[in-house]
Amino acid sequence: MSGGETRGSSRPDATDDDDETGVQAELLQAPKLDRRVLARLLGFVRPYRALVAWSVVLLLLLSAGELAFPILTKRAIDDCIRPGDLRGLYLITTVYLGLLIAVFGLRYGQAVLTQRMGQQVMHDLRRRIFGHLQRLHLGYHERNPVGRTMTRLTGDVEVLNELFTSGLVSIFGDLLTLIGIAAVLLALNWKLALVTLAVVPLLFTASWIFRAKVRVAYGLTRLKVSAINSFLQENIVGITLVQLFNREARHRAQFEALNAGHRDAFLKSVFYYSVFFPVVDFLEYLAVALILWYGGGQTIQNALSLGALVAFIQYSERFFRPIRDLSERYNVLQSAMVSAERIFELLDTEPAITSPAVAAVPAGTAPQLGSGAALAAPGTLLGQVEFRDVHFSYVQGEEILKGIRFTVRPGESVALVGHTGAGKTTITNLLTRFYDIDSGAILVDGLDVREWDLAALRRRIGVVLQDVFLWSGGVRLNVGLRSGLPTERIEAALRAVGADAVVERLGGDLDAEVGERGNRLSVGQRQLIAFARALAQDPPILLLDEATSSVDTETEIRIREALKVLLTGRTSLVIAHRLSTIRYVDRILVLHRGRLVEEGTHDELLAHGGIYSKYYQLEYQRQSEDAPAL
Ligand SMILES: Nc1ncnc2c1ncn2[C@@H]1O[C@H](COP(=O)(O)OP(=O)(O)OP(=O)(O)O)[C@@H](O)[C@H]1O
Ligand SMILES: [Mg+2]
Repeated sequence: MSGGETRGSSRPDATDDDDETGVQAELLQAPKLDRRVLARLLGFVRPYRALVAWSVVLLLLLSAGELAFPILTKRAIDDCIRPGDLRGLYLITTVYLGLLIAVFGLRYGQAVLTQRMGQQVMHDLRRRIFGHLQRLHLGYHERNPVGRTMTRLTGDVEVLNELFTSGLVSIFGDLLTLIGIAAVLLALNWKLALVTLAVVPLLFTASWIFRAKVRVAYGLTRLKVSAINSFLQENIVGITLVQLFNREARHRAQFEALNAGHRDAFLKSVFYYSVFFPVVDFLEYLAVALILWYGGGQTIQNALSLGALVAFIQYSERFFRPIRDLSERYNVLQSAMVSAERIFELLDTEPAITSPAVAAVPAGTAPQLGSGAALAAPGTLLGQVEFRDVHFSYVQGEEILKGIRFTVRPGESVALVGHTGAGKTTITNLLTRFYDIDSGAILVDGLDVREWDLAALRRRIGVVLQDVFLWSGGVRLNVGLRSGLPTERIEAALRAVGADAVVERLGGDLDAEVGERGNRLSVGQRQLIAFARALAQDPPILLLDEATSSVDTETEIRIREALKVLLTGRTSLVIAHRLSTIRYVDRILVLHRGRLVEEGTHDELLAHGGIYSKYYQLEYQRQSEDAPAL
């Protein structure tokens, strides 16, 4: 809302150091599995509990099916191959094949169900977060960098998806498989089972160490990725500055550092993986060796059938897969805890600026949508603005407005002048209630803005912002931001402020692309579009925060003409940097150091010989130097 420069976010030398140390500490300290967070997450799954239930059923069948393969092998060897029962062998092979197909189907179904569930939950979460972000007050967005907020919606939600698809359900399945195998092994031959399971403690120790190490390395990698992303974002947005100030080499070096950091962090996690998997393989074959040594001995002594021996070997192989996965799944679970906490923190931030429970809309009809006619003069003249001893500070202790009081009567045009940083834009921010004041009251049509229904308040006030923002898209979209505006009304508004010339330059196409932030238009053209936007809305009250940028004389005249149209028949508060604008207003207020110090018409203020007259002299000098024709 306020001047772009005061809130510029281009910090080419900024690093993510603070963030990094913070997150590193966070990484080293494993997040607790907070039951409340988990319960809240499960709340998002609740609507899809049917999907989850089916997926669990399939998983149970799948685990049982997989457990059956080694048993079938055992039966084939012991009951058919050794006695030489060929028909039995055919039967078992057919069952084996049938089971294979069934497991294939189950696996497919299970994957589809969990992925569907995950995507649905992500979709819901993103919708919730986006909706919440839209309601959050400006102050929140000022405190939180865009990149971080975007990560909540993308990266963090993605991590949760992983939790839902490959995490929760699969952990359950893995545990089930492990318990199932252990039980079957013990039932088959408990002594051999104990010998085989002797490697399990080693395996768990290895996974434990790996899990901790890889989590830190992996967390660092993610951190580097986000650092690269924010760096990239600022560099693309600020490419003009980079090129103008020949900072390419310096930024390349900064990028190189980030890039190398990412590579090293990633290589570190690769190192752990390349140690861990051979260790698991080693232990796996160690278990096989143990089975061959101990079980083989038993087979020779006829204490164990050959089939059982083979089945043992097969089971031990199946036993290692889930353990290998479990350590990764646990990491997923932990990252998900962190992401979930961040997301919930965002969702729990209450919007500071909301409509009151019993919101009021004062009498008087707001302009009718689509009325088309009476663009310049609303039928019912309303729109009274009053500031009563308003005190306000953005940051506690730094008061920007120190007791502002003034009234703008319906239909009156009042100009607000003052030096840069005096608080002019702040006054418009308060009137549209983007911030709440510290003390005093702001009344619109006799009602405190805090009692207004927020949407109704903002409908009643048309604003032309100091930095004009255009959406990528056409002029139609940008002028008719309020949905449902008919084309004639948009065209009439464009004509009224002389912005039809801009559309002509775009080939007469109302939908021709104006570019991101309207960057295919000149500053003056953008301002004309913004005027048309305010006019099309036909508000009883108009706030105009004029851009400081200088435009050519012709555009200035055009803007002045446009202003005349805009101001007619409505209450207006004009923040003017060009005195040519002020000629049309009824009254001028002079803001100085947070206080209104002068008030009156142009002539009165000149006669008074105060701050305003000094402004005027300076401006007059500038004008006679720059453009004697004016
Ligand atoms: N979001 C913000 N957070 C903290 N301080 C702010 C914020 N916006 C503005 N300020 C401070 O409030 C003061 C008034 O800013 P404001 O934008 O109202 O000035 P202005 O009169 O509109 O100036 P200009 O003529 O340059 O547009 C400035 O000192 C500025 O630094
Ligand atoms: Mg300003």
